[in-house]
Amino acid sequence: MKKMDIKIHVNGDWYELAVNSGDRLVDVLRDQLDLTGTKEGCGEGECGACTVNLDGKAVLSCLILAVQVDGCTILTIEGLQRGSELHPLQKAFTSESAIQCGYCTPGMIMSANALIYNEPEPDEDTIRKNLSNNLCRCTGYDRPVKAVLKAAKDMKGDTNV
Ligand code: FES
Ligand code: FES
Repeated sequence: MKKMDIKIHVNGDWYELAVNSGDRLVDVLRDQLDLTGTKEGCGEGECGACTVNLDGKAVLSCLILAVQVDGCTILTIEGLQRGSELHPLQKAFTSESAIQCGYCTPGMIMSANALIYNEPEPDEDTIRKNLSNNLCRCTGYDRPVKAVLKAAKDMKGDTNV
Protein backbone atom coordinates (compact mmCIF):
# COMPACT_ATOMS: atom_id res chain seq x y z
CA MET A 1 0.00 0.00 0.00
CA LYS A 2 1.31 3.44 -0.89
CA LYS A 3 2.22 5.53 2.16
CA MET A 4 1.24 9.18 2.54
CA ASP A 5 3.56 11.88 3.83
CA ILE A 6 2.40 14.08 6.68
CA LYS A 7 4.06 16.73 8.81
CA ILE A 8 2.94 17.18 12.41
CA HIS A 9 4.10 19.37 15.30
CA VAL A 10 4.30 17.24 18.43
CA ASN A 11 5.47 18.45 21.84
CA GLY A 12 7.39 21.34 20.30
CA ASP A 13 9.04 19.59 17.34
CA TRP A 14 8.00 19.04 13.73
CA TYR A 15 8.01 15.46 12.40
CA GLU A 16 7.75 14.32 8.78
CA LEU A 17 6.20 10.88 8.70
CA ALA A 18 5.05 8.33 6.14
CA VAL A 19 1.71 6.83 7.20
CA ASN A 20 -0.89 4.43 5.83
CA SER A 21 -4.27 5.93 5.08
CA GLY A 22 -5.84 3.92 7.92
CA ASP A 23 -3.25 4.68 10.60
CA ARG A 24 -4.80 6.38 13.61
CA LEU A 25 -3.17 9.21 15.51
CA VAL A 26 -2.71 6.95 18.56
CA ASP A 27 -0.79 4.45 16.39
CA VAL A 28 1.53 7.10 15.00
CA LEU A 29 2.22 8.62 18.43
CA ARG A 30 2.93 5.28 20.07
CA ASP A 31 4.51 3.26 17.27
CA GLN A 32 6.35 5.83 15.17
CA LEU A 33 7.21 8.51 17.75
CA ASP A 34 7.53 6.14 20.73
CA LEU A 35 5.25 8.39 22.81
CA THR A 36 3.72 5.54 24.77
CA GLY A 37 2.36 7.79 27.53
CA THR A 38 -0.78 8.05 25.39
CA LYS A 39 -2.72 4.88 26.21
CA GLU A 40 -5.19 2.88 24.18
CA GLY A 41 -8.10 1.41 26.12
CA CYS A 42 -11.29 0.71 24.18
CA GLY A 43 -10.15 1.91 20.77
CA GLU A 44 -13.75 2.99 20.14
CA GLY A 45 -14.03 6.50 21.58
CA GLU A 46 -15.56 5.40 24.89
CA CYS A 47 -12.84 5.47 27.56
CA GLY A 48 -10.74 8.62 27.04
CA ALA A 49 -7.44 6.86 27.75
CA CYS A 50 -6.05 8.03 24.40
CA THR A 51 -6.82 11.75 24.95
CA VAL A 52 -4.28 14.24 23.61
CA ASN A 53 -4.48 17.97 22.85
CA LEU A 54 -4.91 18.89 19.20
CA ASP A 55 -4.68 22.59 18.38
CA GLY A 56 -5.77 23.38 21.94
CA LYS A 57 -8.65 20.92 22.22
CA ALA A 58 -8.89 17.55 23.94
CA VAL A 59 -9.39 14.84 21.32
CA LEU A 60 -9.53 11.06 21.25
CA SER A 61 -6.51 9.90 19.28
CA CYS A 62 -8.08 6.49 18.60
CA LEU A 63 -10.80 8.15 16.51
CA ILE A 64 -8.58 10.42 14.41
CA LEU A 65 -6.66 9.33 11.35
CA ALA A 66 -3.07 10.48 11.13
CA VAL A 67 -3.73 11.98 7.68
CA GLN A 68 -6.39 14.22 9.23
CA VAL A 69 -3.82 15.96 11.46
CA ASP A 70 -1.35 16.90 8.73
CA GLY A 71 -0.01 20.36 9.67
CA CYS A 72 -1.54 20.31 13.17
CA THR A 73 -0.07 20.88 16.63
CA ILE A 74 -0.36 18.05 19.11
CA LEU A 75 0.55 17.90 22.77
CA THR A 76 0.86 14.60 24.61
CA ILE A 77 1.58 13.84 28.26
CA GLU A 78 5.31 13.72 27.44
CA GLY A 79 5.22 17.34 26.27
CA LEU A 80 3.59 18.81 29.37
CA GLN A 81 6.66 18.95 31.60
CA ARG A 82 8.34 22.36 31.64
CA GLY A 83 12.08 21.76 31.38
CA SER A 84 13.03 19.68 34.40
CA GLU A 85 9.87 20.79 36.25
CA LEU A 86 6.74 18.70 36.29
CA HIS A 87 3.66 20.51 35.01
CA PRO A 88 1.28 21.79 37.74
CA LEU A 89 -1.27 19.14 36.73
CA GLN A 90 1.33 16.38 37.10
CA LYS A 91 2.37 17.79 40.48
CA ALA A 92 -1.23 18.08 41.68
CA PHE A 93 -2.18 14.55 40.60
CA THR A 94 0.78 13.31 42.63
CA SER A 95 0.30 15.52 45.71
CA GLU A 96 -3.47 14.86 45.84
CA SER A 97 -2.94 11.07 45.45
CA ALA A 98 -5.13 11.12 42.34
CA ILE A 99 -3.29 8.25 40.65
CA GLN A 100 -3.88 4.57 41.42
CA CYS A 101 -3.17 2.11 38.58
CA GLY A 102 -2.41 5.13 36.39
CA TYR A 103 -3.79 3.79 33.12
CA CYS A 104 -6.34 6.60 32.78
CA THR A 105 -4.03 9.30 34.15
CA PRO A 106 -2.36 10.61 30.96
CA GLY A 107 -5.77 10.94 29.29
CA MET A 108 -7.29 12.63 32.34
CA ILE A 109 -4.44 15.10 32.59
CA MET A 110 -4.60 15.97 28.89
CA SER A 111 -8.39 16.49 29.15
CA ALA A 112 -7.84 18.74 32.14
CA ASN A 113 -5.06 20.64 30.39
CA ALA A 114 -7.33 21.53 27.47
CA LEU A 115 -10.12 22.47 29.89
CA ILE A 116 -7.87 24.86 31.83
CA TYR A 117 -6.48 26.28 28.59
CA ASN A 118 -9.97 27.14 27.40
CA GLU A 119 -11.40 27.99 30.84
CA PRO A 120 -8.62 29.00 33.26
CA GLU A 121 -10.76 28.90 36.41
CA PRO A 122 -13.15 25.96 36.04
CA ASP A 123 -15.43 25.21 38.99
CA GLU A 124 -15.78 21.77 40.54
CA ASP A 125 -18.90 20.83 38.55
CA THR A 126 -17.25 21.76 35.28
CA ILE A 127 -14.16 19.71 36.13
CA ARG A 128 -16.26 16.73 37.20
CA LYS A 129 -18.25 16.86 33.97
CA ASN A 130 -15.06 17.17 31.93
CA LEU A 131 -13.37 14.23 33.65
CA SER A 132 -16.44 12.06 33.19
CA ASN A 133 -15.22 11.60 29.62
CA ASN A 134 -12.22 9.72 31.02
CA LEU A 135 -13.19 6.37 32.50
CA CYS A 136 -11.41 5.55 35.74
CA ARG A 137 -12.00 2.27 37.53
CA CYS A 138 -9.86 3.09 40.56
CA THR A 139 -10.14 6.57 42.04
CA GLY A 140 -13.85 7.39 42.27
CA TYR A 141 -12.96 10.77 40.70
CA ASP A 142 -12.89 12.85 43.92
CA ARG A 143 -9.10 13.06 44.08
CA PRO A 144 -8.60 13.77 40.35
CA VAL A 145 -11.20 16.58 40.62
CA LYS A 146 -9.34 18.03 43.64
CA ALA A 147 -6.08 17.77 41.71
CA VAL A 148 -7.44 19.68 38.72
CA LEU A 149 -8.90 22.38 41.00
CA LYS A 150 -5.51 22.75 42.69
CA ALA A 151 -3.59 22.82 39.39
CA ALA A 152 -5.91 25.46 37.90
CA LYS A 153 -5.36 27.62 41.00
CA ASP A 154 -1.58 27.11 40.87
CA MET A 155 -1.42 27.86 37.13
CA LYS A 156 -3.21 31.21 37.36
CA GLY A 157 -3.95 31.13 33.63
CA ASP A 158 -0.41 30.08 32.64
CA THR A 159 -1.36 27.29 30.24
CA ASN A 160 0.20 25.48 27.32
CA VAL A 161 -1.37 23.15 24.78
S1 FES B 1 -8.88 4.27 23.44
FE1 FES B 1 -9.63 6.09 22.61
S2 FES B 1 -11.46 6.46 23.70
FE2 FES B 1 -10.78 4.54 24.47
S1 FES C 1 -6.27 5.19 38.21
FE1 FES C 1 -6.73 3.18 37.50
S2 FES C 1 -8.17 3.54 35.89
FE2 FES C 1 -7.87 5.48 36.78
